[in-house]
Amino acid sequence: MKCAITGTGLWVPRYAIGNEELVASHRRAVAAWNEEHAAEIAAGRAEARDPSTDAWIVRASGIRSRYVIEKTGVLDPARLRPHLPLRGEQELSVQAEISVAAAREALERAGREGRDVDAVLVACSNLQRPYPAVAIEVQDALGAGGFAYDLNVACSSATFGIQAAADAIASGRARRALVISPEITSGHNNFALREYHFIFGDACTAVLLERTDELAGRESFEVLSTRLATRFSSNIRNDFGFLNRAEDGERAPEELLFRQNGRQVFREVCPLVAELILGHLADEKLSPAEVRRLWLHQANLGMNELIARSVLGRDPKPGEAPVILDEFANTSSAGSVIAFHRHHADLAPGDLGILCSFGAGYSIGSVLLRKRGRG
Ligand code: COA
Repeated sequence: MKCAITGTGLWVPRYAIGNEELVASHRRAVAAWNEEHAAEIAAGRAEARDPSTDAWIVRASGIRSRYVIEKTGVLDPARLRPHLPLRGEQELSVQAEISVAAAREALERAGREGRDVDAVLVACSNLQRPYPAVAIEVQDALGAGGFAYDLNVACSSATFGIQAAADAIASGRARRALVISPEITSGHNNFALREYHFIFGDACTAVLLERTDELAGRESFEVLSTRLATRFSSNIRNDFGFLNRAEDGERAPEELLFRQNGRQVFREVCPLVAELILGHLADEKLSPAEVRRLWLHQANLGMNELIARSVLGRDPKPGEAPVILDEFANTSSAGSVIAFHRHHADLAPGDLGILCSFGAGYSIGSVLLRKRGRG
């Protein structure tokens, strides 16, 4: 059975932080750290930290601002992480709450209700607890049936989730599936170091997939096929986990947050992504010239331009590979879905597009979509 995306939803945090505001807080944090460690720095046992600049961030990444779930904690140089009041077991967890908000919008756009859904996949880079699955909490809050589970393939979680949902629909194990990506990146970002502090932003996306035989002439994006690939690398890594408390030996605090060798990631991942997309199209007997839109993962503007050029064989025309990272920064698995959510309405029936994610693992996902229904 074929399936199509019939609705998407986006939860955007209330708080935005522009580069200048973030850089100002970082400068104060760096000055305080250097003062606190002055003796070690003078003795050569520690390296002084350098301040960040807005101009560098825009030049290196294209990022100008980001949204965060809570702002005062992130900007407080003595804290550099959000304030999230502890919630009781009877309250909806933070990730479930933002998942429900995004899912409700996706359902509304598709003219469906929670009870119409029989598979809920929460697919994201970081989950606030190992169990019970956040997806099962969301399933309960939406009044959905069937089954639910969490999955994590870092920045590629949403496309891997879409393949899992499409497979469940194809095999008849589900009729309507939600793939939700509640990314609270401010919880694992290292705001103390200038090479990382600007990279991420928070958001939550939801994608509703349904069997095409139940759609009649409704507007939707049919999933023609998917293609996933993984290749092990430690160049993007986060060692936070349940065994930390059992480990003998000292870990640097930075190891329990996001970290990367950005240059190497850039160099290694771009060709892998282009190769995967081109192989995917070739297998579908399609040429890149037939693809109207590339909804790419949003980590770095230079990466997206290079991948789009490698796939299309020319510079992308305005709007062909839409950019949302200037406003949202890297929202991990939510990024390519935000690009799709914001930039699909102008396509005509029959138009083809590729939703593509890439990130830690390495992991890459490509979803080939064709618009159906009203133009
Ligand atoms: N402000 C000012 N200078 C900074 C800075 C900042 N915020 N952050 C780093 N610098 C400095 C570095 O210290 C370095 O200085 P040096 O040459 O004196 O050593 C210089 O700028 C270059 O740093 P580098 O880390 O090599 O920058 P880059 O051009 O590779 O850009 C990224 C860094 C992260 C923007 C870029 O590598 C990238 O986007 N990679 C893609 C990976 C990615 O985002 N992955 C996420 C998951 S897909």
